[in-house]
Amino acid sequence: MKKLVVLTGAGISAESGISTFRDAGGLWEQYPVEDVATPEGWYRNPALVTQFYNERRKQLLAVNPNYGHIALKELEEYFDVTIITQNVDNLHERAGSKRIVHLHGELMKVCSSKEPNNEHYIQTLSSNNLEVKIGDMAKDGSQLRPFIVWFGEAVPKIEEAVNYCEQADIFIIIGTSMNVYPAAGLIHYVPRNVPIFLIDPNQVLVPSTVKVIQKGASEGMKELKKLLIEEYV
Ligand code: OAD
Repeated sequence: MKKLVVLTGAGISAESGISTFRDAGGLWEQYPVEDVATPEGWYRNPALVTQFYNERRKQLLAVNPNYGHIALKELEEYFDVTIITQNVDNLHERAGSKRIVHLHGELMKVCSSKEPNNEHYIQTLSSNNLEVKIGDMAKDGSQLRPFIVWFGEAVPKIEEAVNYCEQADIFIIIGTSMNVYPAAGLIHYVPRNVPIFLIDPNQVLVPSTVKVIQKGASEGMKELKKLLIEEYV
Protein backbone atom coordinates (compact mmCIF):
# COMPACT_ATOMS: atom_id res chain seq x y z
CA MET A 1 0.00 0.00 0.00
CA LYS A 2 1.24 3.49 -0.82
CA LYS A 3 1.85 5.80 2.13
CA LEU A 4 -0.58 8.70 2.19
CA VAL A 5 0.39 11.44 4.63
CA VAL A 6 -2.14 14.17 5.38
CA LEU A 7 -1.56 17.49 7.16
CA THR A 8 -4.79 18.97 8.47
CA GLY A 9 -5.69 22.30 10.06
CA ALA A 10 -8.74 24.07 11.42
CA GLY A 11 -10.36 24.23 7.96
CA ILE A 12 -11.12 20.50 7.90
CA SER A 13 -13.33 20.97 10.97
CA ALA A 14 -14.99 24.19 9.74
CA GLU A 15 -17.89 22.35 8.10
CA SER A 16 -18.48 20.54 11.39
CA GLY A 17 -19.13 23.93 12.98
CA ILE A 18 -15.81 24.60 14.72
CA SER A 19 -14.41 28.09 14.10
CA THR A 20 -11.07 28.42 12.36
CA PHE A 21 -8.48 30.77 13.87
CA ARG A 22 -7.51 33.31 11.23
CA ASP A 23 -10.54 33.58 8.92
CA ALA A 24 -12.91 36.56 9.38
CA GLY A 25 -14.82 35.90 12.61
CA GLY A 26 -12.19 33.29 13.57
CA LEU A 27 -11.29 32.45 17.17
CA TRP A 28 -8.31 34.80 17.34
CA GLU A 29 -10.58 37.71 16.48
CA GLN A 30 -12.89 36.83 19.37
CA TYR A 31 -10.20 36.01 21.95
CA PRO A 32 -6.72 37.56 22.06
CA VAL A 33 -4.35 34.72 21.25
CA GLU A 34 -1.81 35.98 23.81
CA ASP A 35 -4.45 35.62 26.57
CA VAL A 36 -5.60 32.08 25.87
CA ALA A 37 -2.85 30.34 23.90
CA THR A 38 0.46 31.32 25.48
CA PRO A 39 2.22 30.28 28.71
CA GLU A 40 2.26 33.98 29.71
CA GLY A 41 -1.54 34.14 29.36
CA TRP A 42 -1.82 31.08 31.58
CA TYR A 43 0.41 32.58 34.31
CA ARG A 44 -1.53 35.86 34.17
CA ASN A 45 -5.00 34.36 34.35
CA PRO A 46 -5.31 30.58 34.62
CA ALA A 47 -9.05 30.87 35.37
CA LEU A 48 -9.72 32.60 32.04
CA VAL A 49 -7.65 30.05 30.12
CA THR A 50 -9.35 27.15 31.93
CA GLN A 51 -12.74 28.63 31.09
CA PHE A 52 -11.80 29.12 27.41
CA TYR A 53 -10.84 25.44 26.98
CA ASN A 54 -13.87 24.26 28.99
CA GLU A 55 -16.01 26.08 26.42
CA ARG A 56 -14.07 24.59 23.50
CA ARG A 57 -14.69 21.09 24.94
CA LYS A 58 -18.41 21.72 25.34
CA GLN A 59 -18.58 22.89 21.74
CA LEU A 60 -16.63 19.85 20.54
CA LEU A 61 -19.15 17.47 22.11
CA ALA A 62 -21.93 19.18 20.19
CA VAL A 63 -20.41 18.65 16.71
CA ASN A 64 -19.65 15.70 14.47
CA PRO A 65 -17.04 14.72 11.87
CA ASN A 66 -17.88 15.85 8.32
CA TYR A 67 -17.21 14.11 5.03
CA GLY A 68 -13.67 15.55 4.94
CA HIS A 69 -12.77 13.49 8.04
CA ILE A 70 -14.80 10.51 6.86
CA ALA A 71 -13.16 10.39 3.41
CA LEU A 72 -9.74 10.19 5.08
CA LYS A 73 -10.94 7.18 7.05
CA GLU A 74 -12.37 5.59 3.89
CA LEU A 75 -9.02 6.00 2.13
CA GLU A 76 -7.49 3.52 4.62
CA GLU A 77 -9.01 0.82 2.45
CA TYR A 78 -6.63 1.80 -0.35
CA PHE A 79 -3.66 3.50 1.32
CA ASP A 80 -1.54 3.39 4.44
CA VAL A 81 -2.85 6.68 5.86
CA THR A 82 -1.18 8.87 8.48
CA ILE A 83 -2.87 12.06 9.62
CA ILE A 84 -0.74 14.82 11.09
CA THR A 85 -3.17 17.32 12.54
CA GLN A 86 -2.74 20.76 14.03
CA ASN A 87 -6.25 20.43 15.41
CA VAL A 88 -6.91 19.76 19.05
CA ASP A 89 -10.40 18.39 18.37
CA ASN A 90 -11.06 14.63 18.20
CA LEU A 91 -12.99 14.56 14.92
CA HIS A 92 -10.40 12.43 13.08
CA GLU A 93 -10.63 9.88 15.91
CA ARG A 94 -14.42 9.96 15.82
CA ALA A 95 -14.39 9.42 12.05
CA GLY A 96 -12.37 6.26 12.77
CA SER A 97 -8.92 7.19 11.44
CA LYS A 98 -6.28 4.87 12.84
CA ARG A 99 -2.98 6.78 12.87
CA ILE A 100 -3.21 10.38 14.04
CA VAL A 101 -0.38 12.61 15.23
CA HIS A 102 -1.68 15.60 17.22
CA LEU A 103 1.00 18.26 16.81
CA HIS A 104 -0.71 20.86 19.00
CA GLY A 105 -2.15 18.65 21.72
CA GLU A 106 -5.65 17.39 22.44
CA LEU A 107 -8.63 19.26 23.83
CA MET A 108 -9.99 16.27 25.73
CA LYS A 109 -6.73 15.84 27.63
CA VAL A 110 -5.30 17.77 30.58
CA CYS A 111 -1.84 17.67 32.07
CA SER A 112 0.48 18.94 34.76
CA SER A 113 1.22 22.66 34.63
CA LYS A 114 4.75 21.91 35.88
CA GLU A 115 5.58 19.21 33.35
CA PRO A 116 3.01 19.36 30.55
CA ASN A 117 4.58 16.59 28.49
CA ASN A 118 5.15 14.08 31.29
CA GLU A 119 2.91 11.19 30.25
CA HIS A 120 2.35 10.10 33.85
CA TYR A 121 0.34 13.24 34.50
CA ILE A 122 -1.69 13.38 31.30
CA GLN A 123 -5.38 12.48 31.77
CA THR A 124 -8.22 12.13 29.30
CA LEU A 125 -11.43 13.83 30.41
CA SER A 126 -14.67 11.94 29.97
CA SER A 127 -17.60 13.47 28.15
CA ASN A 128 -19.63 13.76 31.35
CA ASN A 129 -16.77 15.47 33.18
CA LEU A 130 -15.13 17.92 30.84
CA GLU A 131 -15.09 20.99 33.08
CA VAL A 132 -11.78 21.67 34.73
CA LYS A 133 -11.73 23.99 37.74
CA ILE A 134 -9.04 26.00 39.41
CA GLY A 135 -7.94 23.76 42.27
CA ASP A 136 -8.15 20.54 40.22
CA MET A 137 -4.71 19.01 40.51
CA ALA A 138 -2.56 16.75 38.38
CA LYS A 139 -0.98 13.75 40.12
CA ASP A 140 2.18 15.79 40.77
CA GLY A 141 0.17 18.29 42.84
CA SER A 142 0.22 21.09 40.24
CA GLN A 143 -2.85 22.79 38.79
CA LEU A 144 -4.27 20.85 35.82
CA ARG A 145 -3.80 22.70 32.56
CA PRO A 146 -5.07 22.01 29.05
CA PHE A 147 -2.88 19.58 27.09
CA ILE A 148 -2.37 22.14 24.33
CA VAL A 149 0.86 23.27 22.74
CA TRP A 150 0.76 27.04 23.16
CA PHE A 151 2.62 29.66 21.16
CA GLY A 152 6.20 29.83 22.34
CA GLU A 153 6.22 26.19 23.50
CA ALA A 154 8.13 23.31 21.94
CA VAL A 155 6.26 20.90 19.66
CA PRO A 156 7.39 17.49 20.93
CA LYS A 157 5.64 15.51 18.18
CA ILE A 158 7.35 17.36 15.33
CA GLU A 159 10.10 14.75 14.87
CA GLU A 160 7.60 11.93 14.53
CA ALA A 161 5.71 14.05 11.98
CA VAL A 162 8.90 14.79 10.02
CA ASN A 163 9.61 11.04 9.81
CA TYR A 164 6.18 10.37 8.32
CA CYS A 165 6.60 13.23 5.80
CA GLU A 166 9.97 11.84 4.68
CA GLN A 167 8.32 8.46 3.99
CA ALA A 168 5.30 9.82 2.10
CA ASP A 169 4.34 8.53 -1.36
CA ILE A 170 1.51 11.07 -1.59
CA PHE A 171 1.03 14.19 0.56
CA ILE A 172 -2.21 16.09 1.17
CA ILE A 173 -2.75 19.42 2.95
CA ILE A 174 -6.29 20.32 4.06
CA GLY A 175 -7.59 23.50 5.69
CA THR A 176 -4.51 25.17 7.09
CA SER A 177 -3.34 28.71 6.38
CA MET A 178 0.27 27.43 6.68
CA ASN A 179 1.09 30.32 9.01
CA VAL A 180 2.21 28.41 12.09
CA TYR A 181 5.64 26.80 12.35
CA PRO A 182 7.03 24.21 12.68
CA ALA A 183 3.86 22.56 11.25
CA ALA A 184 3.91 24.66 8.07
CA GLY A 185 7.53 23.62 7.44
CA LEU A 186 6.61 19.92 7.20
CA ILE A 187 5.97 20.30 3.45
CA HIS A 188 9.73 20.73 2.98
CA TYR A 189 10.41 17.21 4.27
CA VAL A 190 8.24 15.59 1.61
CA PRO A 191 10.59 14.01 -0.96
CA ARG A 192 10.84 15.63 -4.38
CA ASN A 193 8.57 14.00 -6.99
CA VAL A 194 5.99 13.05 -4.39
CA PRO A 195 2.66 14.51 -5.51
CA ILE A 196 1.29 17.15 -3.12
CA PHE A 197 -2.39 18.14 -3.12
CA LEU A 198 -3.94 21.04 -1.22
CA ILE A 199 -7.63 21.50 -0.42
CA ASP A 200 -8.72 24.97 0.76
CA PRO A 201 -11.47 27.31 -0.45
CA ASN A 202 -9.07 30.24 -0.08
CA GLN A 203 -5.63 30.92 -1.45
CA VAL A 204 -2.72 29.52 0.55
CA LEU A 205 0.91 30.27 -0.20
CA VAL A 206 2.54 27.00 -1.33
CA PRO A 207 5.09 26.04 -4.00
CA SER A 208 3.73 26.07 -7.56
CA THR A 209 4.18 22.29 -7.89
CA VAL A 210 1.35 21.71 -5.39
CA LYS A 211 -1.93 20.66 -7.04
CA VAL A 212 -4.57 22.94 -5.58
CA ILE A 213 -8.24 22.01 -5.22
CA GLN A 214 -9.85 25.32 -4.28
CA LYS A 215 -12.88 23.90 -2.48
CA GLY A 216 -14.14 23.19 1.02
CA ALA A 217 -12.95 20.03 2.79
CA SER A 218 -15.98 17.80 2.06
CA GLU A 219 -16.37 18.63 -1.61
CA GLY A 220 -12.59 18.74 -2.12
CA MET A 221 -12.07 15.33 -0.48
CA LYS A 222 -14.83 13.77 -2.55
CA GLU A 223 -13.03 14.88 -5.69
CA LEU A 224 -9.56 13.99 -4.43
CA LYS A 225 -10.56 10.55 -3.15
CA LYS A 226 -11.81 9.59 -6.61
CA LEU A 227 -8.65 10.92 -8.27
CA LEU A 228 -6.33 9.12 -5.82
CA ILE A 229 -8.07 5.77 -6.28
CA GLU A 230 -8.08 6.13 -10.08
CA GLU A 231 -4.48 7.25 -10.42
CA TYR A 232 -2.49 5.84 -7.52
CA VAL A 233 -3.96 2.51 -6.38
P1 OAD B 1 -6.17 28.90 10.32
O1 OAD B 1 -7.40 29.49 10.92
O2 OAD B 1 -4.94 29.73 10.31
O3 OAD B 1 -6.46 28.48 8.83
C1 OAD B 1 -7.64 27.80 8.47
C2 OAD B 1 -7.60 27.48 7.01
O4 OAD B 1 -8.78 26.73 6.71
C3 OAD B 1 -7.60 28.71 6.08
O5 OAD B 1 -6.62 28.56 5.08
C4 OAD B 1 -9.01 28.69 5.50
O6 OAD B 1 -9.06 29.21 4.18
C5 OAD B 1 -9.32 27.21 5.50
N1 OAD B 1 -10.76 26.85 5.45
C6 OAD B 1 -11.83 27.58 5.84
N2 OAD B 1 -12.97 26.90 5.62
C7 OAD B 1 -12.61 25.70 5.07
C8 OAD B 1 -13.35 24.56 4.61
N3 OAD B 1 -14.67 24.50 4.67
N4 OAD B 1 -12.63 23.52 4.12
C9 OAD B 1 -11.29 23.56 4.05
N5 OAD B 1 -10.55 24.61 4.45
C10 OAD B 1 -11.20 25.67 4.97
O7 OAD B 1 -5.95 27.48 11.07
P2 OAD B 1 -4.65 26.56 11.13
O8 OAD B 1 -3.81 26.73 9.91
O9 OAD B 1 -5.10 25.20 11.49
O10 OAD B 1 -2.74 26.44 17.25
O11 OAD B 1 -3.89 27.19 12.36
C11 OAD B 1 -2.74 26.59 12.84
C12 OAD B 1 -2.61 26.72 14.34
O12 OAD B 1 -2.76 28.08 14.73
C13 OAD B 1 -3.69 26.00 15.11
O13 OAD B 1 -3.39 24.66 15.34
C14 OAD B 1 -3.80 26.77 16.38
C15 OAD B 1 -3.69 28.16 15.82
O14 OAD B 1 -3.27 29.14 16.63
C16 OAD B 1 -2.94 26.44 18.59
O15 OAD B 1 -4.00 26.68 19.11
C17 OAD B 1 -1.74 26.11 19.39
